[in-house]
Amino acid sequence: MTHKTLQDALEWRYATKKFDPTKKISDADWVQLRNSLTLAPSSYGVQPWRFLVVENPEVRNQLKPVSWNQTQVTDASHYVVFQYKEKMDPDFVQKFIQRMADVRETSLESLDGYKNLLIENLVKAPEEKIRVWSQRQTYIAMGFLLQTAALLRIDATPMEGFDPAAYDKILGTEGSGWKTVATVALGYRHSEDPLQHQKKVRFNEADLIHYVK
Ligand SMILES: Cc1cc2nc3c(=O)[nH]c(=O)nc-3n(C[C@H](O)[C@H](O)[C@H](O)COP(=O)(O)O)c2cc1C
Repeated sequence: MTHKTLQDALEWRYATKKFDPTKKISDADWVQLRNSLTLAPSSYGVQPWRFLVVENPEVRNQLKPVSWNQTQVTDASHYVVFQYKEKMDPDFVQKFIQRMADVRETSLESLDGYKNLLIENLVKAPEEKIRVWSQRQTYIAMGFLLQTAALLRIDATPMEGFDPAAYDKILGTEGSGWKTVATVALGYRHSEDPLQHQKKVRFNEADLIHYVK
């Protein structure tokens, strides 16, 4: 990829306000978008997240009024709800360690040290700290998805403008240990979305990037 390809994608993307409901993401593109979620990095690698792809139009209709009536919820090709794991429990750590043993073809015993570290640092950590930490991890996956979409010239809107508790209720995930924190709508911009023509508002690079010499 050239620097120009990357720069063009960064400038092309914008938080889409109005999607064209007739345009759908192809299966091949969707595979790549999914991969950006599953390959995103997380602290300790534990992936304290999951992603609900809301396909059911009726459910999306129900989500819209608790999302400030934002039309992206119903009009985008794909609507992804980001949920974070509220607590780090021993079962989740065990599941992760088992997965690591399977993928890397190693024994569970050889991972005991890592498992104990996760228990000390995550399972025994204050719940509020884990909640905040888990949410932060989830936004990394969101960033990966947004960037991948831009490179594929798929439009996307990161969204926090909704009632997370109402989402958990509608999605039937209340009390599951997974909580909604953000969403991303994906698809294709409507030709009438005026936002696509607006200049990006960003602080000067000198205000944002400081070199410590
Ligand atoms: C975490 C997050 C939540 C956002 N929530 C919404 C939202 O609910 N609705 C919306 O239209 N835009 C939302 N935005 C889009 C921002 O307003 C937009 O990214 C910002 O103004 C910069 O513009 P750009 O993305 O077009 O470059 C959100 C962005 C982020 C990163």
